[in-house]
Amino acid sequence: MSVELKIESARAALALVKDGMRIGIGTGSTADEFIRLLAQKVKSGLDIVGVPTSIKTQSLCDELGIPLTTLEEMPELDLVIDGADEVDGSFQLIKGAGGALLREKIVAHASKAMAVIADESKLVETLGTFALPIEVNRFGLRATHNAIRVVADGLGLSGEINLRGGKNAPFETDGGHLILDASFGHIPDASALSNELLDIPGVVEHGLFLGYAKVVFLASPDGVKQLGEL
Ligand code: A5P
Repeated sequence: MSVELKIESARAALALVKDGMRIGIGTGSTADEFIRLLAQKVKSGLDIVGVPTSIKTQSLCDELGIPLTTLEEMPELDLVIDGADEVDGSFQLIKGAGGALLREKIVAHASKAMAVIADESKLVETLGTFALPIEVNRFGLRATHNAIRVVADGLGLSGEINLRGGKNAPFETDGGHLILDASFGHIPDASALSNELLDIPGVVEHGLFLGYAKVVFLASPDGVKQLGEL
């Protein structure tokens, strides 16, 4: 996805942001472009306050002068704007390539609506080509890995489940957890998989975002297509 397309998608979503709004601010390279555009608007007088979905996003917002708060101070938000790794026709998402899925989902859940910024290559018929990130506790990693395998087998899903970063240098999330990337290839029933994964005690969260996105901005060289509305 070219930077230009990320910027165009982010610009389209910026039009949803109005004075007085409490905004969840996503994580990733497309969200970074949104943050840059939002900072320009704030400089010219837009009055908003944001809750970042990661330490990385928090740093960029601080650097660019976007006023921030926390969910402790402001537990209800008007809108979260975030990227995605995959979007299907029912606005189900896979997120978490950047490892921020837990905070992203907490913020999305605290928001009245979610707008997704992406390019058309992220639109898929069935989720799963992109490896599904599953955030897990360090404790009992092997048992949790095995339990995920059992759930996957039961749903007819195969494919590798890999520890992000590898055993010697595992990737650590902002919450201090690990990530297992599950290359299922094809997830016909995302809702069943979501429920069964969340039944595993070692699973902290997963990157299936079901029922959150209300509007999706898909950029292509022909322009930005808006699917859905607030
Ligand atoms: C971060 O954890 C992710 O959920 C990102 O929102 C997602 O990976 C999209 O990132 P890009 O905008 O960089 O493609």
